[in-house]
Amino acid sequence: MMEIRDAVQSDAAGIRALLKANHISTIRPEDKPDGFVTTNLTEEQLTALVETPHGVTVAADGDRILAFALANDWSFWKQWPFFVHMIDILPQYSFDGRQLTVQNSYQYGPVCVEKSVRGTGVFQKIFFHSLQAWQDRYPYMVTFINQVNGRSFAVHTRKAGMQECGTFDFNDNHYYLMAISTKAEQPR
Ligand SMILES: CC(C)(COP(=O)(O)OP(=O)(O)OC[C@H]1O[C@@H](n2cnc3c(N)ncnc32)[C@H](O)[C@@H]1OP(=O)(O)O)[C@@H](O)C(=O)NCCC(=O)NCCS
Repeated sequence: MMEIRDAVQSDAAGIRALLKANHISTIRPEDKPDGFVTTNLTEEQLTALVETPHGVTVAADGDRILAFALANDWSFWKQWPFFVHMIDILPQYSFDGRQLTVQNSYQYGPVCVEKSVRGTGVFQKIFFHSLQAWQDRYPYMVTFINQVNGRSFAVHTRKAGMQECGTFDFNDNHYYLMAISTKAEQPR
């Protein structure tokens, strides 16, 4: 039986294993066309995310982690140079006619779904579970997607309804900057 819930500290090993299987530095080459993630987490950073209310949403079957989605405010993410850059450029983008800021948005991601349950609707379940959990705190959610990650762009636009606000570059990689209202509802 799969359940969608907030992660607890004992989920950390399962989350780390799923992250490792999908991380650009450790992913199997044959898996890369189905998407990859670039954010790495130390054990301390993952512990802090799990301690943050709704910082880690998981799909779990018993103690087996089938998917996870991370989320936190920008003050947490600014430990990574990549997010320092995103914070710098964020006010250049708008969503719903409003300028995006660190006050009116938070950052979601990375998200990973284990291969065996891809295409089964798990993605939408954890996406909207996480989004709704943050709606009392922020009107907008922001994320980035590497432009070569076609699967992630497809799922976030078609199954989550995220919108592309523009593009940006960092360390020779090209990204989309994406946003959505935290009041958005899961498409039927
Ligand atoms: C990205 C990810 C979370 C999506 O979850 P998922 O369960 O695989 O998503 P789904 O299978 O429901 O949907 C993927 C969609 O992308 C499409 N797709 C698959 N490969 C694609 C590609 N290379 N280019 C464009 N679209 C692609 C599929 O056709 C599908 O759409 P459809 O159902 O309308 O046909 C998951 O694949 C994953 O964990 N990938 C590895 C890590 C990752 O990339 N994370 C996101 C980083 S931003």
